[in-house]
Amino acid sequence: MKKYLVIGNPIQHSLSPLIHNYWIKKNNISAIYEKEKLEKQNLKNLISKIRERKIDGINVTVPFKKDIISYLDKLTPEAENTQSVNTIYLNKNKVTGHNTDIDGFGLAIQDIKFDVSKKNILIIGAGGVVPSIIYSLIKMKAHKIYLTNRTREKADDLKKLFKNIIILNWGETQNFDMIVNATSVGLNANEKLNLDFLKIKSNQLFFDVIYNPKETIFLKNAKHSGNKTENGKRMFIHQAALAFKIWHGVQPEIDHEVEKLLDK
Ligand code: ATR
Repeated sequence: MKKYLVIGNPIQHSLSPLIHNYWIKKNNISAIYEKEKLEKQNLKNLISKIRERKIDGINVTVPFKKDIISYLDKLTPEAENTQSVNTIYLNKNKVTGHNTDIDGFGLAIQDIKFDVSKKNILIIGAGGVVPSIIYSLIKMKAHKIYLTNRTREKADDLKKLFKNIIILNWGETQNFDMIVNATSVGLNANEKLNLDFLKIKSNQLFFDVIYNPKETIFLKNAKHSGNKTENGKRMFIHQAALAFKIWHGVQPEIDHEVEKLLDK
């Protein structure tokens, strides 16, 4: 039986095992997908298990998407360009790191038929998932990408990786066609960002990377002002499906049941 893992710290909240084990069963694959909480010093040993074929694939989540890179043999261009790995597998005896968050985000935007070209986009936050969102928006030919983060240095670091993004001061407002909340604010139901650009205009797209709760205050306010909203659920499902396809060679079906699994 093949073995797959998602690693992170914390990891208790991860819904990846639910979704992967659902698809494993549905496709009659002999495999199991588990979660494991790790410390940074365990990463090296874990990667050796992929090399020894004791583990067949790993998903990586916060806070290890960057740290894991130094233990891998090879990165795909997506992982290289974002310095972020969420999917690991053995390819021609090389432990390879890939990033499916990029196309996960892209497919979620495609699902709702939002065309980012000619659009001005603001990303709020500079955490682990942000390089993937920026890279995806560049791939989809977004017109201009603005970024703001409470801690300015982290935004400036991203600018080193993506020279064309425009860094705004925290709280600075402009007109945007799409605003992405990529901070962790809203994970607790009553938390909200202390920013007032939600009032600017209607008919923008507000995207929140968070999917639990289903509707953060950020999305609630945006909807209330007549904007389109989308939470991070489709992005999460797509990144998982892309990893599944790499590991098992099967395109898993994103059916109603999968969506329901994440609504708990
Ligand atoms: P990591 O950085 O480990 O990847 P993350 O949860 O992906 O963690 O990122 C947290 C993001 O949420 C950061 O952009 C963080 O801003 P700072 O860089 O200033 O810490 C942002 N964030 C968390 N709490 C916030 C708050 N109360 N107000 C504004 N931004 C916040």
